[in-house]
Amino acid sequence: MGVIEMDVLEKFKAAQKQGWAHFAPLESFTTPPAARLVRFAGVRAGQRVLDVACGTGVVAVTAARLGARVTGLDLTPELLQRARENARLAAVQVDWHEGDVEKLPFEDREFDVVLSQYGHMFAPRPEVAIAEMLRVLRPGGTIAFSTWPPELFLARMFALIGSYMPPPPPGVSPPVQWGDPGIVRERLGSAVQEIVFDRDVMDFPALSPQHHRSSTESTAGPVRQLVEMLQPSEPAKLEAFRREYDAITAEYLEDNVVRQGYLMTRATRA
Ligand SMILES: C[S@@+](CC[C@H](N)C(=O)[O-])C[C@H]1O[C@@H](n2cnc3c(N)ncnc32)[C@H](O)[C@@H]1O
Repeated sequence: MGVIEMDVLEKFKAAQKQGWAHFAPLESFTTPPAARLVRFAGVRAGQRVLDVACGTGVVAVTAARLGARVTGLDLTPELLQRARENARLAAVQVDWHEGDVEKLPFEDREFDVVLSQYGHMFAPRPEVAIAEMLRVLRPGGTIAFSTWPPELFLARMFALIGSYMPPPPPGVSPPVQWGDPGIVRERLGSAVQEIVFDRDVMDFPALSPQHHRSSTESTAGPVRQLVEMLQPSEPAKLEAFRREYDAITAEYLEDNVVRQGYLMTRATRA
């Protein structure tokens, strides 16, 4: 890869880092699925576990409370600060690292379990991210992650946001491809055995579609970035985006809960 392409990717990651800095309040919604992922992966006491793109550490702290020896890594320092506070409150030890899933600062085969909840899917080069996650996993170890399927709520939101944003730089892959079991199988390839899929739903309580949007406009990286881009100079376009957002959300809002379906994948390192 040339210097110019690397520069484009570094700029993309710097923007990601800025975009995710306000995500911490959403941890209350990612906390229940964190426990489901940890159970799905079969995490046990004493195992060495890596939580990739850990955010505020909901998966990492859950695994640590089971007695696992946990490391958490994320691009965004503001979220790691909250992750440290979460570990302190839960009275567990976690080894936190600021870093990039495409360049993990760990030895080959260092972990028994590598996990990522709605995290590694944001790396721009899926083949690089997955190669790194598998490199640090020991043979016979478990890789497990949660991602958003293209046909369900969150991925439809990503598609909507994408339709209002300038196209991503060349070489950046859409995160929601990680929600397609066929693509996941291809990406894991012969490096793993026994791929298992499951699905679950993340609940997001909201009084109205507008309540959901108001929350994500201040917390969720991609929505925040779009609003910041449109607000100063394109109010009509922002209004159109908000109308479309609310219409999609209304399809998933029932009994004051927005139901956000997701895919879980588990496999064993060959
Ligand atoms: C939707 S949040 C999920 C956070 C957390 N896993 C959870 O379930 O609450 C996405 C996370 O991916 C992180 N992220 C994005 N790109 C990354 C990269 N290249 N390397 C490491 N972390 C990354 C962001 O900083 C953010 O914390």
